[in-house]
Amino acid sequence: MTATQLETALKDVWINIQGWVGSRVPHVLKLIREIQLEDNVVGDIVEIGVHHGKLFFLMASTARPNEKCIAIDLFDDQEKNLDHSGKGSLSMFNQHLDSYFSHLKRQVTAISADSMSFTPATIRQRLKSSGVRLFSVDGGHTVKHVINDMALAQEMIVPGGVILLDDFLGPHWPSVSEGFFEYMRVANRRLAPFLIFQNKLFLTTYSEHPQLLAKFRKLIDRDLMHEVHTNKWRYAQIGEHTVLCFA
Ligand SMILES: C[S@@+](CC[C@H](N)C(=O)[O-])C[C@H]1O[C@@H](n2cnc3c(N)ncnc32)[C@H](O)[C@@H]1O
Repeated sequence: MTATQLETALKDVWINIQGWVGSRVPHVLKLIREIQLEDNVVGDIVEIGVHHGKLFFLMASTARPNEKCIAIDLFDDQEKNLDHSGKGSLSMFNQHLDSYFSHLKRQVTAISADSMSFTPATIRQRLKSSGVRLFSVDGGHTVKHVINDMALAQEMIVPGGVILLDDFLGPHWPSVSEGFFEYMRVANRRLAPFLIFQNKLFLTTYSEHPQLLAKFRKLIDRDLMHEVHTNKWRYAQIGEHTVLCFA
């Protein structure tokens, strides 16, 4: 796929796929891809909580040819969608895959499953993946789902990989923020947050955090000079971790 064809496909995603993604998240994904390419961070792309695939296809569009893209959702088993966060549909997902991303079919796998049925001990085998470089956590929004799904992501992420947690500090789903802080207290052993941007919290691995944060800051200085020195951006602390925040 040429760069122009990719831009067209991304526009199609934006206009035609229903979902919940901040308007500037695609730009942040491009910056993360740039840093991971430079640092030779290799791994698969995974999302828990796909709905119709809006964020999933944006992430998958950054995949390199040998990287798998794995979409996990209850899809048509909505009885287990306990808090009614979105409503996955495998047929909508497959339609979008056919219409806009047929070139990715070889790389994409959709898994219909309750993420609560996975454990840190079984996830690797269930996904048939040796490691993940981009992992979106956007499934069930209860405290228990967030703790479970963050623990799964922690197990799979490669050094320098990035996890996106949706609805962090958003007013609609306070349970996500509660779940995140509880996860940090009881289960975190290797993740560190580095960015809060458009309703999402971005985390990386502990040892790579300082370098990733510094590189990300340099890229926003390069791309967003006009706003970076306004009060829209500031550094904050989450526990011991320094985080760039945009509001
Ligand atoms: C907010 S939507 C996801 C939005 C999507 N990431 C986007 O970009 O538009 C949440 C999704 O999580 C799924 N879900 C809810 N509970 C789940 C669970 N226990 N396991 C897997 N998926 C779940 C729902 O079916 C729904 O599709």
